[in-house]
Amino acid sequence: MFTMKLNFINIPEFLTHPVLNSNTVVMYLALFMCLFLLLFFFMNKKPSCKVYLIDFVCYKPPASQKCSKPSVMKLAKQHGYLTEETEDFTRNLLERCGIGDSTYLAETFFKPSYKPLMKDSRREVEMAIFGSLDMLLGKTGVRADNIGILIVNCCIYNTEPSLSSMIVNRYKFRENIITYNIVGMGCSAGLLATGLAKRLLQVHHNSYALIVSTESITENCYVGKDRSKFLINCLFRVGGATILLSNRSSDQNNSKYELLHAIHDNTSSSDRSYNSIFREEDNAGITGVNINKDLLAAAIDTIKPNLITVGRLILPIQEKLAYQVTYITRKLLPSLNIQQYIPNYSKAVDHFLPHVGGKPVLDDLQKTLGLSDEVMEASRMTLYRYGNTSSSSIWYELAYVEAKGRVKEGDKVWHLSFGSGFKCSSVIWRAMKTIDHGDDNPWTDEIGQFPVTVEFGPFPIDFAPSS
Ligand SMILES: *[C@@H]1O[C@H](CO)[C@@H](O)[C@H](O)[C@H]1NC(C)=O
Ligand SMILES: *[C@@H]1O[C@H](CO)[C@@H](O)[C@H](O)[C@H]1NC(C)=O
Ligand SMILES: *[C@@H]1O[C@H](CO)[C@@H](O)[C@H](O)[C@H]1NC(C)=O
Ligand SMILES: *[C@@H]1O[C@H](CO)[C@@H](O)[C@H](O)[C@H]1NC(C)=O
Ligand SMILES: *[C@@H]1O[C@H](CO)[C@@H](O)[C@H](O)[C@H]1NC(C)=O
Repeated sequence: MFTMKLNFINIPEFLTHPVLNSNTVVMYLALFMCLFLLLFFFMNKKPSCKVYLIDFVCYKPPASQKCSKPSVMKLAKQHGYLTEETEDFTRNLLERCGIGDSTYLAETFFKPSYKPLMKDSRREVEMAIFGSLDMLLGKTGVRADNIGILIVNCCIYNTEPSLSSMIVNRYKFRENIITYNIVGMGCSAGLLATGLAKRLLQVHHNSYALIVSTESITENCYVGKDRSKFLINCLFRVGGATILLSNRSSDQNNSKYELLHAIHDNTSSSDRSYNSIFREEDNAGITGVNINKDLLAAAIDTIKPNLITVGRLILPIQEKLAYQVTYITRKLLPSLNIQQYIPNYSKAVDHFLPHVGGKPVLDDLQKTLGLSDEVMEASRMTLYRYGNTSSSSIWYELAYVEAKGRVKEGDKVWHLSFGSGFKCSSVIWRAMKTIDHGDDNPWTDEIGQFPVTVEFGPFPIDFAPSS
């Protein structure tokens, strides 16, 4: 049986040839080595998979929805949701949470009583999504039937049919469009969607990917008395952003940014992290989002590995060396008491844009990384002007630095967001040109008024004890 099979195998002649001498062997071996190396080289050569950000648009709600802090208090009282006991606490929280007097509330809060209907929530997201998407498609001139991938992320609000179907229906996107609708994944989901789009663009050549990040606050106002659920009411505001990505080489010249890295981390397997931001009913059965004392620890546990990976990818060699040397010395010779060197991330990125959401987290990050107030400006000003708009906040921050005329060709931009789960994502972009602010930038008419100085004071928050 075995010998019969052998007959079919074509043994190279030189191996069986009687006059096989050492020279020929060397020659053939060399030839094989060359072929093997070439093959190895081609197999390892990654296909070029550049992803470009053509443009993005942030939604600016109508001026009629602007609401100052005193007006927020007035509306809350008028709707009957503040008792004498919670009134002072809420005012105090509002004063110190870092938002200004021109953030936007949803339309429903301006009605005589707070009785949100499903259609009100739907209207809120439709205004944000269609408002920014109409502008984005108009601005970029991309035709709806060229869009091959659509990813929508919206954390707390969810409906049926999904928001992605709602968009496909309104713009009559093509039938074979790939759609994803990400819910419940917190404020970092916008960057998670960017990472997903990057992967999809590598398999579906020559397409456009559209990312829509938004949230609806209409039905998500907490109307109970549990203090640890109040923070969301104070910070959470209307907003949304749409982003167009492409991997067409023809878009190389008209894109704003190139995506360099997308890094995702999470600590959902740890109970402490998992429970730190939690949506649940209070004792009276009223739903709200609870933030407990473990938030800061969970954030640090999740953000740290993310920072380390980002550092490994982008920091210049001197910074990495300084870090490694002090790290090793500290391990080997603890008696020397050498301070751990903290790498200077400003040497590698020009614009640092962290999510506005957690003031205590940002303060800690600023202190640990030794970042200047100027570096944190875009984030603080976005919180002041637009509030916490969840996953779309980081796009208002990018619009801020663009409106300030700070983005120059070659600049590196670092989007960092974190949120419930606990999750943390970083995306690094490189500016492909020096960017002029357009009329569609939500900051354009008022950028001269910023930055403003905001006195925060200590954060008077009653976090719930950890569970
Ligand atoms: C887009 O991705 C595909 C698949 O990885 C790749 O073949 C193509 O070269 C990419 N286009 C650009 C402009 O990088
Ligand atoms: C992009 O611009 C460069 C120089 O301006 C040009 O050489 C190149 O052909 C352009 N690429 C495309 C795809 O238009
Ligand atoms: C969770 O973290 C791991 C790395 O720790 C990462 O590979 C994965 O993509 C993350 N998933 C999410 C949903 O963030
Ligand atoms: C970090 O690097 C930036 C840019 O090189 C520099 O302006 C800044 O002073 C440095 N910060 C520290 C703390 O050394
Ligand atoms: C910001 O808003 C999002 C809404 O999805 C919420 O999950 C997050 O906890 C908020 N951050 C803070 C600090 O309130």
